[in-house]
Amino acid sequence: MGPSSDSRSTSPIQRVEADLEHKTVASMLNTPIEVNLTTGELSGDRIESAARTITDLKGLFRDDLARQALDPNTLVYRVQAFLPVPEGEEGGMFWGTTFLSPGLVGDEYFMTKGHHHLQRSRAEFYLTITGTGALILMDEKRRTTFEPMRPHTLHYIPGHTAHRVANTGDSVLAFLAAWPSDAGHDYGTIARVGFSARLRKVGGIPTLVEES
Ligand SMILES: [Fe+2]
Repeated sequence: MGPSSDSRSTSPIQRVEADLEHKTVASMLNTPIEVNLTTGELSGDRIESAARTITDLKGLFRDDLARQALDPNTLVYRVQAFLPVPEGEEGGMFWGTTFLSPGLVGDEYFMTKGHHHLQRSRAEFYLTITGTGALILMDEKRRTTFEPMRPHTLHYIPGHTAHRVANTGDSVLAFLAAWPSDAGHDYGTIARVGFSARLRKVGGIPTLVEES
């Protein structure tokens, strides 16, 4: 409420009102999220986290016996996300970091599950912070390609493109991601039909090998 039109000086009531208004504004300030640009770690009180161990990734790798031979608690990747609006809301944006451990299951590099976006037209950016790897992309005709990831490489993932990341190095691969809040994730399709090729270590070199 503002001062009445005929007041010429500030009354005690008006000063209290002004003070309350100031406090209200102060309580609405959000503490910014911080991004460590050396490690990719996000910090702040609105960060959500999840992790996937080798046990969680049953069925993902070609050689399941090799997967079972690893320590079941082996961390394959963890993600942090800043989701400032509800999932599915149109017009918002999300931000996250994925930390993918180095390792092999047989001759196949540690990798993320991979997904389509539920809304297939939605695109995404990845920015590599540390480590080396491969961004594996598959278009709607099931043509699979990959882009090398190394510190500071920026990757545009177009709509209608399934994507996953493999760690081809010997240290943690960390990358930032930004995507629309209404993109959604469809993991089920990849879980059922997979990518048309797998990134395997052939003669010491990361090589896409077509699924037979
Ligand atoms: Fe995505």
